[in-house]
Amino acid sequence: MRKQIAAANWKMNCTFQEGEKLLDDILGAEIELANHQLAIFAVPYPYLLMTRSEVEEEQNYYVASQNCHHKKSGAYTGEVSAAMLHSMNVNYCVVGHSERREYNGETNAMLAEKVNLCFENFITPIFCCGEPLNIREAGTQNDYVAAQLKESLFHLPADKVKNIVIAYEPIWAIGTGKTASTEQAQEIHQYLRSVIAGQYGEEVANEIPILYGGSVKANNAKELFSCADVDGGLVGGASLVAGDFIEIIKALK
Ligand code: PGA
Repeated sequence: MRKQIAAANWKMNCTFQEGEKLLDDILGAEIELANHQLAIFAVPYPYLLMTRSEVEEEQNYYVASQNCHHKKSGAYTGEVSAAMLHSMNVNYCVVGHSERREYNGETNAMLAEKVNLCFENFITPIFCCGEPLNIREAGTQNDYVAAQLKESLFHLPADKVKNIVIAYEPIWAIGTGKTASTEQAQEIHQYLRSVIAGQYGEEVANEIPILYGGSVKANNAKELFSCADVDGGLVGGASLVAGDFIEIIKALK
C-alpha cells in the first residue's frame, strides 16, 4: 500500500516548552502506526533537534523542516540549507508552502532548486501545490496545479520523483475553516496523479503519496482520507491541539 501520512505543520506557533508538551501529549497516546503509516512533525528550525529526539525511538514518527534555502550555502544571513538539515538527521522538508510562495516570493523555479538540494541531501521534500480562490472560481485549477508540478518537479528523473510526497493545499481552504469537499479533493488528487502518470508512468504515479491540506480537522479527516487518492493530510491549526492531531493520525487508512 502507498504510504499514508499525517503531517503536522506548526507554522510559526508554540514556544519551545509548548512544543515539547504538545509532542509529549501526542506521543503519549502511543498510537501504533502500521508499516505504511507515518506521522511527521514540521516544526520551526530551533525545535528540530528537540523534536528529532522526541520521535527517535518511535516507529514511523519523523521530524520535518518547514523550509530550506534554494542555494547550497553562502552569504544568506538567517537562512538554513538542506545540507544543514541533513547534518541534523532531518529527513523531510516542506517545500513551496503557499504562505512561503506568497510572503517570501518563492517561485516554481526556486522550488525546483530546493527540491534538487533536498534530494542531494537525502531529504524527502513534501512539495506543496494548490490554487488560490480566483483560479478555483474560474475553474482553471487543474492547469494551475499541473504547471506547479511541471515547473518544479518534472526535471527530476523517475527514481527521484517516486520518493517525493505531494501536498495539495487549495489556498482558499488554508486556515479558513473551509474544506474542499471529498469530491473536490478526490477529483483534483486523481488529476494530479494522472499528470504524474503522463510524465513518469502509472507505476511511479501510484507510489507517490498525495496529502490533502486546508482545514483538516479531527471531525473531517476520516472522510477526506477515505478518498482513494487522498493519502493523508498536511495539517496546520488542528495539529496544535494534541487531542485533535491524535484523532487525525488515527484517521489514516
Ligand atoms: P490549516 O493549514 O490546517 O490550518 O488550514 C494547513 C497548511 O497550511 O498546511
